[in-house]
Amino acid sequence: MIRLCRDEEIEEGDARGFRFGEGSDQTRVLVLRWEGALKAYLNVCPHVGTPLDWVPDKFFHPDDRHLICATHGALFLPENGLCVAGPCEGEALQAVEIAVEKGWIVYRG
Ligand code: FES
Repeated sequence: MIRLCRDEEIEEGDARGFRFGEGSDQTRVLVLRWEGALKAYLNVCPHVGTPLDWVPDKFFHPDDRHLICATHGALFLPENGLCVAGPCEGEALQAVEIAVEKGWIVYRG
């Protein structure tokens, strides 16, 4: 179990990125709150595997309805990670398990 941040630090329609581990064991995760629910995905684009954010914690498209990959512009639905436009359309971000424990968002893998 890895503590990511306090629950209240991620507001509705907001997302944050986290990295932990070293080298090839490093894990990149993005956590967002959408329609009241926390969602978490690996921060790995299904197209060629780059992180989605071009600036730390900038995951949302300006329309505030999609996540966007900075590398080639693929658009993803926040609620399930499905790619709905771009080179990996029809693929999806890999969901990961998180929980809120004593006010902390924790990563469970
Ligand atoms: S790496 Fe994300 S769209 Fe190409």
